[in-house]
Amino acid sequence: MGKDVIIALDFSGAMETYEFLNRFKDEKPFVKIGMELFYSVGPEIVREIKKRGHRIFLDLKLHDIPNTVKKAMAALTRLNVDMVNLHAAGTAQMMRAGLEGLTRPDGTRPLLIAVTQLTSTSEERMQKELLIGVPINEVVVKYAENAKAAGLDGVVCSPLEAKIVKEACGVGFMTVTPGIRFADSDKGDQVRVTTPAMAREIGSDYIVVGRPITAAPDPVEAYRRCVSEFVD
Ligand code: C5P
Repeated sequence: MGKDVIIALDFSGAMETYEFLNRFKDEKPFVKIGMELFYSVGPEIVREIKKRGHRIFLDLKLHDIPNTVKKAMAALTRLNVDMVNLHAAGTAQMMRAGLEGLTRPDGTRPLLIAVTQLTSTSEERMQKELLIGVPINEVVVKYAENAKAAGLDGVVCSPLEAKIVKEACGVGFMTVTPGIRFADSDKGDQVRVTTPAMAREIGSDYIVVGRPITAAPDPVEAYRRCVSEFVD
C-alpha cells in the first residue's frame, strides 16, 4: 500500500476536467471522481480518464439495502476503478455485500473504504437528529471497526480522526483523509484542516486534495508540492 496524493476532480463538465488533466505531462496523478462529475457526465468520464492512465477513486458513497449495493458495486467494478466507497451506516451486512459485488471473477477488486460520519455532521446534530447519544469519535471508531470486521480496506476520515482509527484498527487499516491545506493557503469552507506534512505524520495513507491544487495558479506545481510534503 503506497502513500499517495489524490486530486479531487470537483468539476461539473468533461471539457473542464480534461483541460485540467491535460496540464499534467510528466505524471499521472491518482484522481477522485465524485457525484457531481459522475452524475453530470456519466460513466463515460470514468472510462476516458482510466484510458488516459490515471488511477481513480470513485467517490459515490453507496448506501442502500445489501442486495442493491452488491449489484451496484458489481457494475462499478466493471469500470475498472481503483477505489470505491460506501456508508458504514448501512451496517456490516451491507458492507460485506458491497465487497462481494465488487470482487471480480478473477478474485481481484478495487479497494473498498467506508465513510464513517461525514465531517459536515456535527456532534450536536448527530445526537439531536440522529439520536446517536455518544461522542462522535466513538461513532467514528465503532464504524471503522465494523468496516474492518466486514473485510473493508479502510475509511475516509479527517486527519485528526485518522489517529484514533489507526489505534483501534491497526496501522494496516487505511485512512483516506480530505481537509488538506498548505500552511500558507486559504482554508475555504473547510474547518479542521491539516497540511500534507502533518497528515503524513499522523499516518494518513492517502490525502484527498481539491482546491489547493485545482484552484492554484499552477496546479502541476501545487500537486508536486503536495507530493513532496506528503510522500517523498
Ligand atoms: O477542495 P477541497 O480540498 O476542500 O476538497 C476536498 C474534497 O474531499 C472534496 O471533493 C470533498 O467533497 C471531499 N470530502 C471532504 N470531507 C469529507 C469527505 C469528502 O472534504 N469528509
